Amino acid sequence: MAPLDVDKVLAELDLNEKISLLSGIDFWHTAPVKRLGIPSIRTSDGPNGVRGTQFFNGVPAACFPCGTGLAATWDQSLIKDGGRLMGREAIAKGAHVILGPTVNMQRSPLGGRGFESFSEDPYLAGVMGAAVVSGIQDTGVAATIKHFVCNDQEHERQAMDAVLSQRALREIYLMPFQIAQRDAKPMAYMTAYNRVNGTHMSDHKRILREILRDEWGFDGLVMSDWFGTYTSADSINAGLDLEMPGPPRVRGNQTAIDVGLRKIQERTIDERVRKLLELINKVDKLNIPENAAESTVDSKETSEALRYIGASSHVLLKNEGQVLPFKRDKSVAVIGPNAQIACYAGGGSANLRPYYAVTPFEGIKAQGEGDVKYALGAAGHRRLPDLGRTVKTADGTKSGLTAKFFIDPPSAKERKQVDTVHVETSDILLADYKNPEITSPYFWVDLEGKLTPDESREWLFGVCVSGTANLWIGGKLVVDNTENQKQGDSFFGSGTIEEFGSIYLEAGKTYDVLVQFGSSATSNLRPTGTTVMAGGGVRVGGAVKTEAREEIDKAVKLAKEVDQVVVIAGLSADWESEGYDRKTMELPGASNKLIAAVAAANPNTAVFLQSGTPVSMPWISSVPAIVQAWYGGNETGNAVADVLFGKVSPSGKLPLSFPVKNEDNPAFLNYRSERGRTLYGEDVYVGYRYYEKVQREVLFPFGWGLSYTTFDLSNLRVEDESTDGKLVARVDVKNTGSKRGAQVVQVYVSQGAPSIGRPKKELKGFSKVWLEPGEQSEARVELDKKYATSFWDEEAEAWISEADEYEILVGDSSVSTPLRARFGVAKTTWWKGL
Ligand code: BGC
Repeated sequence: MAPLDVDKVLAELDLNEKISLLSGIDFWHTAPVKRLGIPSIRTSDGPNGVRGTQFFNGVPAACFPCGTGLAATWDQSLIKDGGRLMGREAIAKGAHVILGPTVNMQRSPLGGRGFESFSEDPYLAGVMGAAVVSGIQDTGVAATIKHFVCNDQEHERQAMDAVLSQRALREIYLMPFQIAQRDAKPMAYMTAYNRVNGTHMSDHKRILREILRDEWGFDGLVMSDWFGTYTSADSINAGLDLEMPGPPRVRGNQTAIDVGLRKIQERTIDERVRKLLELINKVDKLNIPENAAESTVDSKETSEALRYIGASSHVLLKNEGQVLPFKRDKSVAVIGPNAQIACYAGGGSANLRPYYAVTPFEGIKAQGEGDVKYALGAAGHRRLPDLGRTVKTADGTKSGLTAKFFIDPPSAKERKQVDTVHVETSDILLADYKNPEITSPYFWVDLEGKLTPDESREWLFGVCVSGTANLWIGGKLVVDNTENQKQGDSFFGSGTIEEFGSIYLEAGKTYDVLVQFGSSATSNLRPTGTTVMAGGGVRVGGAVKTEAREEIDKAVKLAKEVDQVVVIAGLSADWESEGYDRKTMELPGASNKLIAAVAAANPNTAVFLQSGTPVSMPWISSVPAIVQAWYGGNETGNAVADVLFGKVSPSGKLPLSFPVKNEDNPAFLNYRSERGRTLYGEDVYVGYRYYEKVQREVLFPFGWGLSYTTFDLSNLRVEDESTDGKLVARVDVKNTGSKRGAQVVQVYVSQGAPSIGRPKKELKGFSKVWLEPGEQSEARVELDKKYATSFWDEEAEAWISEADEYEILVGDSSVSTPLRARFGVAKTTWWKGL
C-alpha cells in the first residue's frame, strides 16, 4: 500500500472518523477508515515473544527467556539479534507492533512482573531495552517500550500512586526509557496503569508531553496499557494518542461530547490522529495485509538461536569443588518440582503458547550418557497443575481436551453448538475469542477429556474462573464454582480464588472429565478495577495428593543411588505473574527441605533455580553448586542441559542483587499500595545502590556470575576524549583456565566529593568478551561522559555534571572492581534532553 498523505487525510477525515481512530476496534487492532484507505494495524504481546491475536489456543510462537534472563546475558548484540527474531515472529503473526520490551525496575524481589523487566540498574535496563528495540525495528516492526513509567509493582496497579522524588524518577525510573530513546528511538510507548505523584500516567501531561515529547524529542505514538485509559479529555490533552483495547470505553461518544464542551480542541484531536497515521506509514513497508492470517517460523535457526540465548542467560552462582559441569557418562538423578514441567515463561500477558517447550528432564535425558532418573521430591505449584497434560481427548488420540462452545446453558433442552476446538491446556482465557455466532456476552463451553490414573490415589482438583464453572469427574460433581464465588487474583484480577474438591480414583480406570464453563457474564462477581475480561476464562488443575515427607524420602533414596544429582526447583508462571506480587521470597512448598535433604544425601548436588526474580536460599552453605536458570523459553531444558554438562560455559551475570531475605530489600517497608499510594522511600538507592551504601550483606551481588574457566583482568587505561563527550576504558582480559568462556567487564563510576548524597558507584558501561583458553584480548568500553557523571539537580530541574574528580572502577561484578582509574570534570554544567 502507498503511504498515507497525512495532511491530506487529516483534512478529509470528519470528526467522528478522527475520534474513531483514537481507540482500538478490538483487543489487538486499531480502527480503519476504509473510505480514505486507512488500514487497521495489529499489535501483539509482548516482551519475550509474539503471541499473535489469541490468548485462547493461539498460533504457537517462539518463546524467549524472560527479561531478567535476557539481561543476564549482558550481551547487547545477542539481544539485538533476539529483537530481530522477535520482529520476524511478529511478521509471521501479521503484527505491525510488538508490545514490548518492558523496562520497569525491580524495586523488590517480590514484583509479580519483575521477570519481564531487565534489571534493577537503569543503565543495564536501558541498553538492553535499546538492543531489543533496535533489533525489532530493524525488521520494520514497531516496538512499544513499556510501561511508562513506575509500574514496578502489581498490587493495586491501576490505583496506586507512585510517590517519588524527581531525582529518583529521573535517575532510576525514567532512565531506561531515556537511554532507549537516545539509542534506539522506539516507535511507540505504552503508558503505565498507575499514577505518578498524583496523576495517572495516561493523563500525565508533564511526563507525556513535557518530558517525553518536548525534552526527549519523541515523535511516535503513545498508547495506553489495556484498559488503562481512564479519561477522555484529560488523556487526549495530555498526549495519549491511542486508547487500547477497543471498542472504546472512555473515548468514542464521550470524546465527541468533550469536543462539544470545548474540553478538547479539534486541533488536539488532529495531533493525536496524526501520530497514528504516522505510525501506519512507518510500518507500511512491512506490507502486512489487514487482518492477516497468522503463521509460524518454527525453524531450526529459531531453535538454535533460542537455545543459545537460553544457555547464555544462565548464571553460575556457586561451584565449590567443581561439582559442575557434570560428567556425561555418569548417572544423574533429576529431582524437583520443575524437572518434569517446562517453566518456560512467567505468567500474564507475557505468556504465550510456545512452538514446543523442552522440560529440564527431557533436555538432560537427551544429553546424559549414563542413567538419567527422575523423582518429584516436592510439589511446587501455587495452583494445581494444568490438567491438559494429564488428560486425553474423548477418542483417546491426543493429550488435552475438547472445547465445545454453545450459545445455550447446560440446562437447555437443546443446545446450539457453535465451535469445537482441541486444546492442550485446561487454562483458557477467552478475552480475545471471536465467533460470529456468539453475539451475546452469555455463552458456555464444555471441556471434555478422559483421565486414566496410574495409581489408585486420592486426587485433588481446583477451579479458578472468570465466569462460572463446574467440574465433573466420572459423572460426580467435584468442584462447584458457580455460586458464592470469592474474588481472587486469577485472570488478571477478574477471576475467583481456586476452589478445591477431591475424589478417590482407581488405577487403570478411565474417568470422564467434564468442565462446564459459563462466560464472565454468567457470574455475579463484579471485580473492581477497569480490566474487563469479556468472555472470561477458566483454569482447571489436578494432581494426586502427595505427602511431602514420602516424596522427599523417595528423592533422597534416589540421590544416594546415583553419581550426580541436579535439583530443578524454583517458581513458575503461577507464582510470578501479572496482577499480583509474590508474598514472600521463599521457594514454594517443601522445596527448601527437599534441597537440604538431597544435598546431604549426595555431595555432587547442583541446584538449578528457575525464577525471574530472587528467591531465598536457606540451604546455601550445604549446596556446592547453584545456577540461576530463569524461565528459559522454548529451549528451557536443552539450555539447562548444555550448562549442566558443560557444552556451554556459563557466562551470565546477575542483572539484579539477590538479598538474603526480603526484609533486607530497600523497598521492604513500602512495597505495596497503602490507601492508594506507594512511597518510593528508598529514593535513588535501589538494589545494589542501597546494599553498598549501607553495607548490607547480600546472597549474591549485582553483576555476579562465575564460569567453568577463569579470567584475569589487567591494565586499565582510560582516555578522556573530551571533545566528543566520550570516555574510553580499555582493559586486557585473559582466559587463564582451560575452557572457552566469556567474561563481562563491568565499568562503574563514582564521584569524589558530590554536593549531595550519591550511591557509592553506578554501572555506566560494560563489554562481554569471548576467549579461548589462554587467549587474551582487549575489552573496550565507551562511556558517555555526561551520563557517567550527572545526577538530577531538583533545584535546577536539570541534570548536573559537577566539576570534580571521578573514579572509574572496573571488575567482574559489583563487589569485585580491583582496577581503578581517575578522570576529571573541569567545569560544572547543567543539561537537559538526551
Ligand atoms: C499488560 C500489558 C500488555 C497488555 C496487552 C496488559 O495487561 O499490562 O503489558 O501489553 O495487557 O496484553
